[in-house]
Amino acid sequence: MRIIHVGDFILEKDEKSAVNEVLDSGRLSEGKKVREFELALAEFIGTKYAIAVSSGTSALIAGLTALLYSQNSPVKPGTNVITAPVTYISTSSAIVKTGLNPVFVDIDRRYFGITPESIKEHLETVDDVERYSLILPVHLMGYPCDMDGINKIAKKYGMQTFEDSAQAHGTIYKGRKTGSLSLLADFSFYIAHNIQAGELGAITTDSYDIIRLVKKIKANGRMCDCPICTRAETGCPKIKSYEGDDDFDPRFTHDMIGYNFKTMEFQAALGLSQLKKADWITRRRQENVRYLNENLEKYSDMLQLPEYLDTVSYLAYPIVINKPEKIPRKKLRTSLEKMGVETRPLFGCIPTQQPAYGYLKNEYEGRLPNAEYIGLNAFYIGCHQYLDQGDLDYMIQAFNTIMKDLR
Ligand SMILES: Cc1ncc(COP(=O)(O)O)c(C=O)c1O
Repeated sequence: MRIIHVGDFILEKDEKSAVNEVLDSGRLSEGKKVREFELALAEFIGTKYAIAVSSGTSALIAGLTALLYSQNSPVKPGTNVITAPVTYISTSSAIVKTGLNPVFVDIDRRYFGITPESIKEHLETVDDVERYSLILPVHLMGYPCDMDGINKIAKKYGMQTFEDSAQAHGTIYKGRKTGSLSLLADFSFYIAHNIQAGELGAITTDSYDIIRLVKKIKANGRMCDCPICTRAETGCPKIKSYEGDDDFDPRFTHDMIGYNFKTMEFQAALGLSQLKKADWITRRRQENVRYLNENLEKYSDMLQLPEYLDTVSYLAYPIVINKPEKIPRKKLRTSLEKMGVETRPLFGCIPTQQPAYGYLKNEYEGRLPNAEYIGLNAFYIGCHQYLDQGDLDYMIQAFNTIMKDLR
């Protein structure tokens, strides 16, 4: 029996030699490869800066902490952050862990993101609008949120925007890549993401203030904050400019309380080799989505298939069950898994379906109908770049067999 994983990572010659190069260099902690990766990522996304951190979760925490420290930001402890109820849990958990308050609005049932309409409707009905400081939309499964609309609302209410682009590597929205459409954005390069490196994350931004703060926060608040370290080549400008104490070392002097969110050279080397193939990865996934759509279209009365757009960099192949009373998700997922087609639920509605957020259940139950529906009735299968024609035909055959029995 074939096994069709939701994602895969085939370590080819270039990935292996990238890792060996790190081993040969003798430098494992952050160095040249991390810098190279940051420059390449910034160029790929189209921002002035990118900074690597240990994971997408640490990118979210570091980014939110930077906003809390930034003098120009309305983001203050305890203020409200409008965000997505259907996403990987860390988007919301990072908000809670940084002392901010997540406020969930409903999503679009086809593209899974929060919408300008649902944000606007929420802000127009609350009586504490001055407590809202940030909108943190998630580009789920690669589909971009309507950032023009979201930025417009943020501006009207004096809020900032922070995109979670962890699942959208290379998606294009109105000619620009996601991750470059707000003040800052986070990325995850966790295994099975389009650009993957095992465990790795990043922040992208055009703001020098944000990149400087994230750089400090990820390294325990140390006083190093130059975007590019010149210590080895020309000496440290901070030491040179510091008067009165010959013993000052910015690496071991801390003017903020931060974290250790640094990464390693291995992950950056893998990330770099993946970035070089980004266009191929995006194209292969798009071709696979298109082929699956063409062949599963006959079930579209029962199953909402992912809309095909040639600007989307697909994380996976999401399916929403239209008639769960006829085709329960559990039954369909179990049947697919039995035939070797791996599936994953589309995350669950955080405030009403995730046990960790049980304290919000009463407040939100029934208020997020699309998110609750998706949380119960949507799932995804793989569309990754390593699937071949035989795999795709096998997946279609699996659906044909299962749907014949279920219909
Ligand atoms: C939308 C979203 N945000 C954040 C994260 C967190 O990334 P990581 O797993 O690298 O911590 C993920 C991970 O899959 C994600 O999908």
